[in-house]
Amino acid sequence: MSHLIVTDIHKSFSGTPVLTGQSLQVKDGEFVALLGPSGCGKSTLLQIVNGLIPADRGSVVLNGEDITGRTGKGRGMVFQGSELMPWRSALENVAFGLEVMGIGRAQRTARAREYLHLVGLDGFEHSWPHQLSGGMQQRVGIARAFCIQPSLLLMDEPFGALDVQTRDTLQDELLRIWESEPKMVLFVTHGIEEALYLADRILVYSKRPASVLREIQVPFERPRREDMKMDPRFLELRREISELLRDDAAH
Ligand SMILES: Nc1ncnc2c1ncn2[C@@H]1O[C@H](COP(=O)(O)OP(=O)(O)O)[C@@H](O)[C@H]1O
Ligand SMILES: [Mg+2]
Repeated sequence: MSHLIVTDIHKSFSGTPVLTGQSLQVKDGEFVALLGPSGCGKSTLLQIVNGLIPADRGSVVLNGEDITGRTGKGRGMVFQGSELMPWRSALENVAFGLEVMGIGRAQRTARAREYLHLVGLDGFEHSWPHQLSGGMQQRVGIARAFCIQPSLLLMDEPFGALDVQTRDTLQDELLRIWESEPKMVLFVTHGIEEALYLADRILVYSKRPASVLREIQVPFERPRREDMKMDPRFLELRREISELLRDDAAH
């Protein structure tokens, strides 16, 4: 059973507190959205969990192992821009994590192909990142993160730079893949609808320094469907969260 325990994280940048004692837990197979205004500290928290930014205090424990301040190991990351390596083909980008793990060429190529297939990119194995649309680049980013079969997926506004149609399509694609390979997800967003549509649970954060304003158990069944966005409970939750964030911004 996978389990993430983040405890009492503190972080300041040049004396400005961004995180002042943030804790959270994710259960096996749980999809958790971190929702909050721009600048509140969501990316900082995610990067601390990923080990890319050191915390001033606090710990990150993944599956019983203290991984505070360490990168790699059980985590896959998808950024807002796919951050693909421009000198590597789509396939080589997806296979990169496996290469780092020391998996042989034949095996990593086979697995990378499988994950490109899963994100609908058959035939684009040898395309360069610049030849792909923004949505396709994000698909490669998702394939790359899933390909290493992490127990925790960290996603930082992965669809934030896409047009609305592409974003909606990729949300459904992500859910489809995740439902076939459930893993823990921390998904950062400032989109209320996106959080409600994707997550099992939402942590709503205040402006900087981030504190949890409210924790919401999302009451909708899976698989999620587009018409859920018309459900009165969805509209009500959307309104409540929107008011919560508006009140917080005003103070
Ligand atoms: N490397 C850094 N150096 C200085 N300030 C930073 C750095 N990274 C983030 N910050 C500041 O920390 C705050 C939170 O940033 P961030 O975690 O990116 O917010 P969010 O992802 O919620 O938009 C912001 O005020 C930002 O300017
Ligand atoms: Mg951010």
